[in-house]
Amino acid sequence: MKTHIKLFIPGPTEVREDVLREMTKPQIGHRTKEMSELYERIHNNLQKYFNTKNEVMVFTASGTGMMEGSIRNTIQSDVLHLTNGSFSERWLEVSKANGKNADSIKYEWGVAPKAMDLEERLAGKRTEGIALTHNETSTGVRTPIEDFYRIAHEHNSLFLVDAVSSLAGDTIDVNKTDVIFASSQKAFGLPPGLVITFISPEAMEKTMTVKGRGYYFDFISMKEDYDARKQIPATPAIPLFYSLDYQLEKMLQEGRENRFRRHKEMAAMVQKWGRENFSLFAEPGYESVTLTVVNNTRNLNIENVRKLLRSKGMEISNGYGKLKEKTFRIAHMGDLTPVEVGELLNAMDEIIGLKQ
Ligand SMILES: Cc1ncc(COP(=O)(O)O)c(C=O)c1O
Repeated sequence: MKTHIKLFIPGPTEVREDVLREMTKPQIGHRTKEMSELYERIHNNLQKYFNTKNEVMVFTASGTGMMEGSIRNTIQSDVLHLTNGSFSERWLEVSKANGKNADSIKYEWGVAPKAMDLEERLAGKRTEGIALTHNETSTGVRTPIEDFYRIAHEHNSLFLVDAVSSLAGDTIDVNKTDVIFASSQKAFGLPPGLVITFISPEAMEKTMTVKGRGYYFDFISMKEDYDARKQIPATPAIPLFYSLDYQLEKMLQEGRENRFRRHKEMAAMVQKWGRENFSLFAEPGYESVTLTVVNNTRNLNIENVRKLLRSKGMEISNGYGKLKEKTFRIAHMGDLTPVEVGELLNAMDEIIGLKQ
């Protein structure tokens, strides 16, 4: 059994050794000039990489934290969720758990929400926010966001986007969102523990009026602390901030277009393999760029495949929730390369008996 199992699971994803090494640097106090410099650099590089002037906030939390934080900060009462898989359904539950009047347009798993349906639902009605999951990690469905943003704004609603498993891999215009967030352990290629968040001026303005925003994820106190001293109100996970700082330099060197192209190339390889040997779960035309969900049309014992693959030093995921045995998931995000994806697919061929 190999000791380093290379992760092709949709998070936590593989983290390069040089990135991991960054985390072992000596700690600094979180109220020091060094911390201010570190956070300011991260802040500026995030704005630079994503080509935006929207507010940037990095919280020590996982993505689920910002599912809650985005709702608490920007919604006083009414929010409309578009659900098409497990994570978008979770977000709806999060809104309800925070006492919001949360409505939904519900789609079958595997289907992408359609802008037309939103337009129809909003006719003559108003809601404070539209919540959409850009990349449904349970189903491998990617939803283009531009039309949703336009419709939300035409109806005076904010557009909230969970891009937990796609930002930094897929191409997304942050400026076409009001709140968008991603977990560090996905396409950023970092360990878990940070949620990277962008907030539009409209959303900041709305936040000022919302009561009961809570404490830990309060956008206003985060902004005040940043403006005053480039710091964070609570103690941040400093090793993860080191890794993000380092990774942003690497991402800027690679370039946003190149990073997207690499993800597209990996996605095309896995999608082709999946179509030739099985079929894909996602609605055609809406396949994710960062992970592929494959229908288990050969009735494979997925746990057994995973075990054999692990003995070759690689790991993929079973299906999510109710799709556990019906599908399996291969992630191609972060710093993985087409060569590594090729090695994975070869290993899968051998295990499944597609190649003797
Ligand atoms: C699309 C999506 N949203 C939200 C989450 C929850 O994020 P976290 O596990 O970082 O809390 C996940 C996790 O996989 C996800 O894939």
